[in-house]
Amino acid sequence: MADLAMRATELVKWFGEGDAKTVAVRGVSFDANFGEMLYIVGPSGSGKTTLLSIISGILRPNEGTVSVEDEDIWNMKSDQLAEFRLNRVGFVFQDYHLFPRLTTVENVAIPLILKRLDWNKSMDEAMGFLEIVGLKDRARLPPVKLSGGEQQRVAIARAIASRPDILIFDEPTASLDGDTGRRIVDFVKKNILNEKRCIIIVTHDSRIFEYADRIMKMEDGRITGFEQGVGHEE
Ligand SMILES: Nc1ncnc2c1ncn2[C@@H]1O[C@H](COP(=O)(O)OP(=O)(O)O)[C@@H](O)[C@H]1O
Ligand SMILES: [Mg+2]
Repeated sequence: MADLAMRATELVKWFGEGDAKTVAVRGVSFDANFGEMLYIVGPSGSGKTTLLSIISGILRPNEGTVSVEDEDIWNMKSDQLAEFRLNRVGFVFQDYHLFPRLTTVENVAIPLILKRLDWNKSMDEAMGFLEIVGLKDRARLPPVKLSGGEQQRVAIARAIASRPDILIFDEPTASLDGDTGRRIVDFVKKNILNEKRCIIIVTHDSRIFEYADRIMKMEDGRITGFEQGVGHEE
């Protein structure tokens, strides 16, 4: 049986009131399992980013629950929720969100420093994560000196630096050319995914569909179906 990483139940999220009300997520339930790469696909505006924000503890839903180890994250006290965001989930954004004034290694060290690890130890550990993504030789450069693919790898190193077991990617290849995008996802599948991690990727880039274990389809705030991915191995 699959090892459950997270369970979303009947999530609903709307923005605004009255005439301006937009319902972005309309009753979404799904499980995400350890050891799998789960894709969420759907047209622009279908609620994917809103859903990711809810399951990563950033945006409170109007209805529904997100349970991790049988505990609803949206029922947690604020310090517990902050702890969840810092230690259990890693987020990689489409446009990397790197700090331009920091060096590459400093960017990767941010979550470690937030965990109150001392500076030198944070830098040493960050260097180890940069090595995992093959960018040790870029450590002292500012992000602007790196290519798009390299910057995405820095964002991945930073996301895994806090050792999260749930890694969430929002359109990770959207700013990259096709080959670089595929190389990134190929790398993540081979080097970052393991039986104790769950990776959730929102994308509409069909060039990376081959890496999916499971594909969840969304339309207009609802799940319209699940498909076994071609990347799935029994
Ligand atoms: N902060 C917000 N305020 C108002 N409307 C929003 C906000 N965020 C998202 N929406 C709306 O919710 C819907 C879903 O958006 P989003 O989750 O970004 O979809 P996707 O990521 O699939 O493109 C869209 O109609 C969008 O305009
Ligand atoms: Mg989006």
